[in-house]
Amino acid sequence: MSCEISPLSEYTGVEARGVDLSQPLDGDTRARLNQAFVDASVIVIRDQSLTADQLVTAVQNFGEIFPQHNTKFALPECPQIHYLSNQDRYPDGTRYIPGAGYHTDHSNAAEPPKATVLYAIELPDSGGDTQYVNMQQAYEDLPEETKTRIARLKGTHVYQSKHSARKLMGLTDEAKKKVPDAVRHPIVRTHPENGRKSLYLNPIRIEEIDGLDETEALDLLNELLEHAIQEKYQYRHRWRLGDLAMWDNRCLLHKANGDYDHGQTRYLYRVMLQGDKPV
Ligand code: SIN
Repeated sequence: MSCEISPLSEYTGVEARGVDLSQPLDGDTRARLNQAFVDASVIVIRDQSLTADQLVTAVQNFGEIFPQHNTKFALPECPQIHYLSNQDRYPDGTRYIPGAGYHTDHSNAAEPPKATVLYAIELPDSGGDTQYVNMQQAYEDLPEETKTRIARLKGTHVYQSKHSARKLMGLTDEAKKKVPDAVRHPIVRTHPENGRKSLYLNPIRIEEIDGLDETEALDLLNELLEHAIQEKYQYRHRWRLGDLAMWDNRCLLHKANGDYDHGQTRYLYRVMLQGDKPV
């Protein structure tokens, strides 16, 4: 395959063309795509045409599949894939926009997913972008005093923090048995593949920070989040049909935008890849 890789923004994101993920990848192409993912944190592989089973096979070029928590969204015919759809509703009838509000995926796991892969099946005519924030860049620009203050702090992550502005869809009984009650992860983590430090925050899941009272913890989290989501650290992905995007949950926050006509459907397949314990 003659794969071309080019940047999508200054710090974050590359696109790859000339790759057909429905076919086995040669070793050189696989290594280049994996390296581009580690270097740029988001890789968008354009012009794919994949069945659910082909997607499951394709993502294993990049790692081992992570079992997602809320089995309510699993595809019956291929449960390793979950779907994201703007056509689902909360039990009270209001529309559910999965992924709205900055977060990193499944940080309430002891070993959270290193990557999330989305594959666009149906898109609105405009809007519905995914926004990413580069938490390595944001960490590196912090004042030294802040870096020292947060160096050894750990946050407690739960399925849904009582402080979260966004309400998640309830877990199925089956999922509740598998999801840990709480895990502690460092606020600053080191990337296991490129060695860079990044902020590891999740406003939806962090409930406490060791050694800080509730007000101090929330003030600190808000201060760090406000710093991180500045436009200069963002990459905004405008989806095209056939896009397969894979991002690095170890060093990015992301969010879905619900800013489009909900008479139109936004429907994507989602698969995650196993990561390590954050350190
Ligand atoms: C997610 O948070 O995993 C979904 C992001 C999106 O739908 O753009």
